[in-house]
Amino acid sequence: MLELREAALAILVGTDAQVKVSGLFSLFNDYQNQKISIDITRKLDSKESILPGRPTKPELVLPKLVPKRRMDTPEGRAGLLHSLAHIEFNAMNLALDAIWRFPNMPKEYYEDWLKVAKEEAYHFNLVNEHLHALEFSYGDFPAHNSLWEMVERTTDSVIARMALVPRTMEARGLDAVPAIRDRFKQIKETRTVEILEIILNDEIGHVLIGNRWFNFLCAQDHLSPITTYRELAAKYRAPVLKGPFNIAARQQAGFTAEELSLLET
Ligand SMILES: [Fe+2]
Ligand SMILES: [Fe+2]
Repeated sequence: MLELREAALAILVGTDAQVKVSGLFSLFNDYQNQKISIDITRKLDSKESILPGRPTKPELVLPKLVPKRRMDTPEGRAGLLHSLAHIEFNAMNLALDAIWRFPNMPKEYYEDWLKVAKEEAYHFNLVNEHLHALEFSYGDFPAHNSLWEMVERTTDSVIARMALVPRTMEARGLDAVPAIRDRFKQIKETRTVEILEIILNDEIGHVLIGNRWFNFLCAQDHLSPITTYRELAAKYRAPVLKGPFNIAARQQAGFTAEELSLLET
């Protein structure tokens, strides 16, 4: 019988985006149908594998070298969607990484991240299919890797990973997506608006999962979530959060009133 965490690592190592997506969908279904076991105690080793496995394109460049996307040209709009496709590709990878890398979490932790991974695969497909409809594809533009860099910085600590990836990087998406959606609304690109609505809604759930496990780990070690977050953000050089914040979405995603008020100071 296949084991969930080992299978997640195997999918993460794979370089073809479409194979990764279909592998994840089967893994999710097989797990639901009890065809996959789970070993929470085993410490797995990625050996010499380069993580994440990824196609030769897109070319990865520094964030400042990604051209600014213009909304008034088809190419500019496709470029914006392409950045989104790349974020979803890495979001799939980060959810897989959360599964294989950290042993000794409750079974529900792995199940939560499996659900996230499946939803990211679905988001990647939505964006990629729409890119194809616009006659572009994933790999056509350069991309930057800041999301994955935060994953790499936090390979040594599950609490840092939860604090800085879902609760910081994915939560930034909650703030950023509404403005992008409104720009597409203005030019009546309804399909893109629909896709962004789906993504925004699902992402609230991902940040909620990050909050759930961050707070679980804090409680386990009798730590204050607020002080601990501050310390981890400094230690792992998290980006400083800038408003405007999507307070309603952040509330739904499980941030407390105190955490939200600290954001705005
Ligand atoms: Fe996503
Ligand atoms: Fe996500």
